[in-house]
Amino acid sequence: MIETRSEPTFDKGLANTIAAESEMSYIDGVNGVLEYVGIDIDTLARSSTFEETVFLLWRRRLPTTAELEHFNAEIRREYQLPEPLWTTIQQIPATATPMHALRTLVSALAVHDEEADVNTPDANERKAIRLLARTPALIANFDRHRKGKEFVRPDATQDIATSFLTMLNGAPPTETMARALDVCLILHADHGFNASTFAALVTISTLSDMYSAVTTAIGTLKGPLHGGANEAVMRMLEEIGDIDAVEAFVKEKLVRKERVMGFGHRVYKAYDPRATYLKTFAGQLAEDTGNLHLFEMSRAIEKIMHDAVGAKGIHPNVDFYSATTYYSLGLDIDLFTPLFAMSRVAGWAGHCIEYLLDNKLMRPRCDYTGPHGIEYVPIGDR
Ligand SMILES: CC(C)(COP(=O)(O)OP(=O)(O)OC[C@H]1O[C@@H](n2cnc3c(N)ncnc32)[C@H](O)[C@@H]1OP(=O)(O)O)[C@@H](O)C(=O)NCCC(=O)NCCS
Repeated sequence: MIETRSEPTFDKGLANTIAAESEMSYIDGVNGVLEYVGIDIDTLARSSTFEETVFLLWRRRLPTTAELEHFNAEIRREYQLPEPLWTTIQQIPATATPMHALRTLVSALAVHDEEADVNTPDANERKAIRLLARTPALIANFDRHRKGKEFVRPDATQDIATSFLTMLNGAPPTETMARALDVCLILHADHGFNASTFAALVTISTLSDMYSAVTTAIGTLKGPLHGGANEAVMRMLEEIGDIDAVEAFVKEKLVRKERVMGFGHRVYKAYDPRATYLKTFAGQLAEDTGNLHLFEMSRAIEKIMHDAVGAKGIHPNVDFYSATTYYSLGLDIDLFTPLFAMSRVAGWAGHCIEYLLDNKLMRPRCDYTGPHGIEYVPIGDR
């Protein structure tokens, strides 16, 4: 239990502020540890599935076989979008970016949910399941819409990763591809009070609603300092183009005091444990799909960054090797962040439900640095 202080303290960016308690994920930034409900992320990535991981995060324990079957059935029952949503997707301009489209469409889900404003734990869990189940169809079918392709409806015989890739590509993925996506979904599912989760909590703490909270979170995730970094990494790899150009590119960036995308983290000053597993995974996948040059370039960037700024605690974060992984899966670059969102819905919704059990309005102060006592001059006299 952490004591709360009555006197406000100034903490820019809230870097040293603990805003609430949570039983969902544990991060040790010094030793590079991430656990979901006490289970090491590496073990989950190797042994679990996304759906089982969501059960773990939401119910704080692993399911039995029967419980997992039941949970899977509950999710799949909610796969189908409310019918009017298909028209809403078509109304979004094909030129819109998928993150703008996703934010709009998740918000639109609320107006077709009679329980949108019911904030009981049961109703919120049902909405959490709907959000988790429907986000993949929104992302995949917006992509089909912008490419002038027919919609593909979700298939309730498939798990989330398989169903998403089937909708996106119009054909079922190989088992390896589906498993690769499943692992990425596990790794991104939750991460303490990151910026988007915190944004969701600010919204839910006003006793607003789950759809508003997740819409807020999607807008927050989009920024390049947060979830948008995976897209920025891929664009950087494309800009560099060749392994021989890596050294000059990275060194120039550092001289100009610019950020190298996919490096550094607010909490991890050791290697991001999600990146450890993704690195091996990305290498294998890149080799299998003829994208080894991207992985080799990534490794070269990592080496130069390690020598230059590793001592300052700047290492690859989850986004760095996600970029090569998603690219190897054949995904368009602007779908990388929506995929992050598809997974993080689990964390956002879980934290909202948990926070509402003992809600307190999130409302920090600001340190006013402007003037006082200024005379109001009528507009005609200015
Ligand atoms: C994630 C991030 C916003 C965390 O920032 P933060 O905790 O506020 O840390 P700061 O911005 O204060 O950075 C601390 C120092 O490390 C440097 N640094 C941090 N990330 C860096 C990066 N990616 N490339 C180069 N230098 C970096 C800063 O320049 C600063 O150096 P200084 O002390 O000499 O001024 C930051 O590391 C970043 O911008 N990374 C790139 C974007 C990214 O990959 N985001 C995804 C996060 S999962």
